[in-house]
Amino acid sequence: MSKNLVAYYSRKGENYFGGSIRSVAKGNTEYVAEYIAEAVGADIFEIETAEKYPDDYMRCTEVAKSELKNKARPGLKRELGSIAGYDNIFVCGPCWWGTYPMAVFTFAERFDWSGKKIFAVMTHEGSGMGSSERDLRDSCRGAEMADSIAISGSQAQSSEKTVSDWAKKCLG
Ligand SMILES: Cc1cc2nc3c(=O)[nH]c(=O)nc-3n(C[C@H](O)[C@H](O)[C@H](O)COP(=O)(O)O)c2cc1C
Repeated sequence: MSKNLVAYYSRKGENYFGGSIRSVAKGNTEYVAEYIAEAVGADIFEIETAEKYPDDYMRCTEVAKSELKNKARPGLKRELGSIAGYDNIFVCGPCWWGTYPMAVFTFAERFDWSGKKIFAVMTHEGSGMGSSERDLRDSCRGAEMADSIAISGSQAQSSEKTVSDWAKKCLG
């Protein structure tokens, strides 16, 4: 039987929801990642940075912009030892300036992805997948890029059926 992994980055704290800023205890992508893991029976790994991003939304966008510009690879709080045991890997993250947060690439570049199937998952506020699929392909040496899905961040919490159906179809 094939083994599945859901790896995700998600930021708690202040975020922008359809016109206003709210502080949340659980990020949008975390909901989606948990729904996928539950639907397909996957292990789940949270990609966390060693240094926290500012809680303030605007300040966080500035830090993220500068990291993107500098192709930063922020250190991770915790490492996943290996992906060798997995066949299918869902890589989930929010859209930050049109792509994944740089920490997702820190994570991805650690591994040899030969023989792994990758499913890109992104939550966003209008940019869809942005350049995330291309950027992920560049960072995941040897991977086979399979299907992807973009979920509007404001609908992440209520997306269980959509993402569960999609994830099952991916592996079906
Ligand atoms: C630093 C930062 C940059 C963002 N840039 C974009 C963007 O370029 N395009 C977009 O559609 N949404 C953007 N957003 C909105 C997030 O992608 C969206 O709210 C996402 O669902 C947040 O997921 P999370 O709660 O799991 O972190 C940005 C949010 C942050 C904090």
